[in-house]
Amino acid sequence: MQFKKLKPFPEGFLWGASSSAYQCEGAYLEDGRTLCVSDTAPIPPGTSNFNDGVDHYHRFKEDIALMKEMGFKEFRFSIAWPRILPQGTGEVNALGVAHYHEVIDECLKAGIEPVVTLYHFDLPQVLQDKYGGWASRQCIDDYVEYCKVCFEEYGHKVKYFLTINEQNMMALFMGSQYGSEKACWQANHHMLVAQARAMIECHKMCPEAWIAPAPNITAIYPASSAPLDNLAAMDFDQFRNRLFLDTAVFGVYPEALVNWWKDRDVYPDDITEEDMKNLKDAKPDFIAFNYYGAGTVKYVSVEDGEKAKKEAMETAEFMIGLMTYPGMCQAVNNPLQEMTSYGMGIDPVGLRVTLRQLWERYHLPLLITENGCGVPDKLEEDGTIHDPYRIDYLRKHIVACQEAITDGVDLMGYSPWSAFDLISTHQGITKRYGLIYVDRDEFDLKEMKRYRKDSFYWYKKVCESNGADLD
Ligand code: BG6
Repeated sequence: MQFKKLKPFPEGFLWGASSSAYQCEGAYLEDGRTLCVSDTAPIPPGTSNFNDGVDHYHRFKEDIALMKEMGFKEFRFSIAWPRILPQGTGEVNALGVAHYHEVIDECLKAGIEPVVTLYHFDLPQVLQDKYGGWASRQCIDDYVEYCKVCFEEYGHKVKYFLTINEQNMMALFMGSQYGSEKACWQANHHMLVAQARAMIECHKMCPEAWIAPAPNITAIYPASSAPLDNLAAMDFDQFRNRLFLDTAVFGVYPEALVNWWKDRDVYPDDITEEDMKNLKDAKPDFIAFNYYGAGTVKYVSVEDGEKAKKEAMETAEFMIGLMTYPGMCQAVNNPLQEMTSYGMGIDPVGLRVTLRQLWERYHLPLLITENGCGVPDKLEEDGTIHDPYRIDYLRKHIVACQEAITDGVDLMGYSPWSAFDLISTHQGITKRYGLIYVDRDEFDLKEMKRYRKDSFYWYKKVCESNGADLD
């Protein structure tokens, strides 16, 4: 619906931006840090590895000063598990612990609320080597042990913790590493239980803190008005979104999905009563989610889906292949959705729909922890970076937030990806998301000098006016 007048952003709205440790810190073997699974994963040709990041580990003070200049109210970053517990478990690394005390204190001094992700794609490699990472139930205890160190150290000064970044993307896109679909859902179950236990511990150890899951959530559109496409959209929503949030909020697996898994004999074997009690007992205080554009699906039968999947996996359309589930749905390109040059959707209306769906289903405050436009930027000779495309992207999504607030959604804040340029998960530094430009190329590190993009100055006005000035 269209309103005559939009509600203003609420007082105390958390304006800021996000990052993750392994993509920005660099210093990958410094001060006791060990390798994480993202450091050792194969890197697409022509793109940088994560070893040096954008040197945020050494330059966090300069970066936080720039965020303060923009008027940030929050900064979302992650703590690197392999810095805190270099062996994944056991001995705590004092240098790692001290580093994040410094980062948190620097934020607080600047009037910026730290929003801390406990785990962002950086499982310690030692745990992967020792027992296959999340494939093993042991990983639950080790994750909880790590979280308890963080709660003990930082819980008195961090108000917002996030358990796991994009668990759903890890399961849906990286699940094949576990060898079978059943093993993937078993590993996913371990993560759900680990998250539940972390939420319970957080509430025990730091009663003032709030904790939330941080999946990647998006509205799912049916490709047509065909009844079967509508069913496919409903099923895919259950699979991609509700599997991760119904379990976190209500402590139950979506019923139709469980029956579909059982029918295909991929339902995890090892789900105990105690696991389900933990899922039930754990209550998030809010929902954090990353949003990059809605998904569109059509129905596909088992036979047609298997054929389509195989064909797509052999072409540049492998993403379509990855998102094809024979007997449920096949992802399709949506001609009515704009795209970035990297093929990511630009869909602010989808953000409003997603916000509405989350609020109406879960009735918990919502925090957008990622949203952004990753494209190449050009540093001009005079040190300026003109990125009107980013301003346009962010503006449209912020208006969508305001419309959702006017709809009645309880939105706590907006933390786009990313505060400064960092290394994309699989597309290097050339795919830039930051408000702050970092001068380095894929292989030439240069001096990694920071520059203010046009979007920096624009976002500063947004933060300072509490979203009233979007021009
Ligand atoms: C999210 C991740 O999936 O998207 C981030 O949480 C990631 O870590 C971001 O960087 C953008 O994706 P990409 O692949 O362009 O880096």
